[in-house]
Amino acid sequence: MIEYKSIGFVNTREMFKKAYREGFAVPAYNFNNMEQLQAIMHACAETNSPVIIQVSKGARKYANPIMLRYMAEGAVRMVRDELKATFPIALHLDHGDSFDTCRSAIEYGFSSVMIDGSSLSYKDNIELTKKVVEYAHKYDVTVEGELGVLAGIEDDVVGEATTYTDPESVNDFVNKTRVDSLAISIGTSHGAYKFKLKPGEPMPELRFDILEEITKKLPEYPIVLHGSSSVPLEYIEMINNYGGKLEGASGVPEEQLRRAAKSSVCKINVDTDGRLVVTAKVREVLAKNPDKYDPRDYLGPAREALKELLIDKNVNVMGSAGQG
Ligand code: G3H
Ligand code: 13P
Ligand code: ZN
Repeated sequence: MIEYKSIGFVNTREMFKKAYREGFAVPAYNFNNMEQLQAIMHACAETNSPVIIQVSKGARKYANPIMLRYMAEGAVRMVRDELKATFPIALHLDHGDSFDTCRSAIEYGFSSVMIDGSSLSYKDNIELTKKVVEYAHKYDVTVEGELGVLAGIEDDVVGEATTYTDPESVNDFVNKTRVDSLAISIGTSHGAYKFKLKPGEPMPELRFDILEEITKKLPEYPIVLHGSSSVPLEYIEMINNYGGKLEGASGVPEEQLRRAAKSSVCKINVDTDGRLVVTAKVREVLAKNPDKYDPRDYLGPAREALKELLIDKNVNVMGSAGQG
């Protein structure tokens, strides 16, 4: 068992208290490789922002859990010893799919885990989430649960009513599981194709009415938004201009995320935007410099572009800059 506190991570409890009080959201950025992690750390050091670095099941498979855990430790060392920055850092398991995955992450030194029981029945979701919470709390690790299915507005198979989180059940869920934060479904979805829009059709609004109802049922309680990339047109065009083919991509407008961050939403998850900016930059560098073959020549500029994107998010979307 590796104690996350000895590595220099914190759990999300105090982070969320402050975020709630001050009206910002803690950014939760996914990483799979060194360049992403460096970009996140430098962006948060430059903006003095708290951060949740998160690892998905896919990331664990791609990079190896031991590798990721030591990369995260290395990142903390770099931040504290070299950048001399003190902003709080949580290491979080994103979309944990079983008790064993959560337990394994806690044993590896994660300070926070998500148990995603959203595809289970309400009763089974409660049972699994409660089991993870009971285990995690023994080690002062915080747990994020999920209620409602993040299917997205474009999904015409699942009906809207079953997709969004039901405000009537949140209180019961939190009371029975004692989960520390709750991911809800109010219209966001994962990936680069969040809304199927007809030409000229405006972006739909997130269901702020549901968020308000949930906030009333759970006062002072931290809410989490997944699927919160904005899919900037600039990067879609760059990708397409340099040989890519992403058609009809769309994301959540930044103003809506800013509005959410000012409310009970204390954690906002972003992965896709980072993927897009890295891909756009790599494509651009290679297209303009066909003679390049050293990965540092294209991953370096991609890392820099990602850092700039995250700085902008911390300042203008999360409102977390200066809150470290
Ligand atoms: O929630 C999904 C995250 O973007 C992680 O995606 O499972 O492809 O690593 P992944
Ligand atoms: P995006 O795909 O919108 O970046 O969402 C990421 C996410 O929710 C990770 O859990
Ligand atoms: Zn997610």
